[in-house]
Amino acid sequence: MKQLHKPHSLSHRRDEEMPSGQPYSPKSLKHPRNLPRSINYLLREQRLLFILVGILIGSTFFILQPTLSRLSTSEPHSFIPGSFPTGVTHYDQVSRGNSMSYGLGGKAGRVPVGISGRRLRIVVTGGAGFVGSHLVDKLIARGNDVIVIDNFFTGRKENLVHLFGNPRFELIRHDVVEPILLEVDQIYHLACPASPVHYKYNPVKTIKTNVMGTLNMLGLAKRIGARFLLTSTSEVYGDPLEHPQKETYWGNVNPIGERSCYDEGKRTAETLTMDYHRGAGVEVRIARIFNTYGPRMCLDDGRVVSNFVAQAIRKQPMTVYGDGKQTRSFQYVSDLVNGLVALMDGEHVGPFNLGNPGEFTMLELAEVVKETIDPSATIEYRANTADDPHMRKPDISKAKELLNWEPKVSLREGLPLMVNDFRNRILNEDEGKGMK
Ligand SMILES: NC(=O)c1ccc[n+]([C@@H]2O[C@H](COP(=O)([O-])OP(=O)(O)OC[C@H]3O[C@@H](n4cnc5c(N)ncnc54)[C@H](O)[C@@H]3O)[C@@H](O)[C@H]2O)c1
Repeated sequence: MKQLHKPHSLSHRRDEEMPSGQPYSPKSLKHPRNLPRSINYLLREQRLLFILVGILIGSTFFILQPTLSRLSTSEPHSFIPGSFPTGVTHYDQVSRGNSMSYGLGGKAGRVPVGISGRRLRIVVTGGAGFVGSHLVDKLIARGNDVIVIDNFFTGRKENLVHLFGNPRFELIRHDVVEPILLEVDQIYHLACPASPVHYKYNPVKTIKTNVMGTLNMLGLAKRIGARFLLTSTSEVYGDPLEHPQKETYWGNVNPIGERSCYDEGKRTAETLTMDYHRGAGVEVRIARIFNTYGPRMCLDDGRVVSNFVAQAIRKQPMTVYGDGKQTRSFQYVSDLVNGLVALMDGEHVGPFNLGNPGEFTMLELAEVVKETIDPSATIEYRANTADDPHMRKPDISKAKELLNWEPKVSLREGLPLMVNDFRNRILNEDEGKGMK
C-alpha cells in the first residue's frame, strides 16, 4: 500500500490513462516550470482575465453609485445618519450674500438617503414651550415627523395635547443638558427659558442649558449629519449703542449682571454653533429673535405683552417699569415660525434678525392693550429692572433679501388673537380655584 503513494507509481498510472499513449502533460506544464507556483496558478485557465473583469465591474459600480443615489432621492434635506459633511459653508460668503448650495456638504462626503419618499424627521428642543409648540404645529401640518424634547421647566403638555395620538408626533421628557441620541434630519434648538422671571430663577441652570444643551445638540447634529438651527435672541445686542440693530453689530452686554446668564449664554451658544460649523462642517443656522407674543405664552412670565394682557383681563393695573419710554418691537408668533422655517430650509447660515420692526414705547403698548381689552384699564409705575435695554428694534433687511421673509401681522391684528387665548385660560384658572 505504501508504494501507491510513491511518485513513480503515480506517473505510471497517469501514463496508462492517456489514450494516445503519450506521457501525461497537465496544462501547467505549458508554462515554464521556473515561475513561482502562485503566478502559475493565476495564469492557468484564464483566471487572470476573470479577476480583471471583476475589478472592472466593481469599480464601475462604485463610480456610478453616488450619482445614481443622488438622482433617486426626492428629499434634498435628507441624509443618511452617520454620514459626515466635509464641506464647510463659509460664514463670510454668507454675510456677503453669496448663495451656497444646500449641501456644500452634499458635494463631498454626504450621501443622500436612498429611500425615496421618506418624510423629513425633525427634532424640536423646547417644543412644549410658547414658540416651540407653534413651530411643531407648522411642521406637522406640512407633513414632517416631529420629535419634541422638553424638560417642562416652562413648557406645558397642554400646548401639545392636540397632537397626542398623531402618529407623526413624539414627545420625550428630557433635559438637553444631558446627551441624547436620535436619528433626525433637522434639529431646531429652542430649549431655554426665555422670560427674565424664568431665566433668573436659576441662573446657573440657564447658562448650563445654553452651553451644555447647545453642545449636546451640536454634537448630535455632527454625529448624525443633521442640520442645526439655534434660536438666539436680540439680547445678544445688550443695551445697544446702534439703532436699529443690524446683524453686524457686536452688542453692548454686561457680562456680570443679572441677565448675563441668558445674554452671555446665548452669545456662547452662537459661538459654539459657528465653531461646529467652521471646525466640524456641521450645517447650522442662527436666528436672533426679537420680542414675540401670541397664544400659549405663560400667563405670568413677566414679559411685557403677557403681563399687560393678563393684568388688563384680571382688572389689575398694568405695571410699567421706569418711565415707560423704553421701546420694543413686537412680533406675532406665526410670523416668527415662518421665519424660522424659511431660515432652516434656506441656504444661509445667518445670523438673521427675526422680528417686527414696528417700534412701540411701553406706554404706547399699554394704550393698544387698553383699546383691545378694557378702555378703563390703569397703569402703575415701578422702578426699572437692572440692565433693561432702552431701545430695541430689528433691522430685518438681511432676512428680507436673503430669506424673502418679513412679518405680516401687525400688533393690532395679533393682540386680539392672544387675548382670546389668555381670557379662556384665566377663566379656567379662576374656575379651577373656585372648585378647590
Ligand atoms: N419668545 C420670545 O420673545 C423670544 C425672544 C428671543 C429669543 N427667544 C428664544 O426662543 C426660544 C423659545 O422661547 P419661548 O418664548 O418659546 O420660551 P418658553 O420658555 O415658552 O419655551 C422654552 C422651552 O424650553 C424648555 N426647556 C427649558 N430648559 C430646558 C432644558 N434644559 N431641557 C429641555 N427643555 C428645556 C421649556 O420647558 C420650554 O418648553 C428660546 O430659546 C428663547 O431664548 C424667544
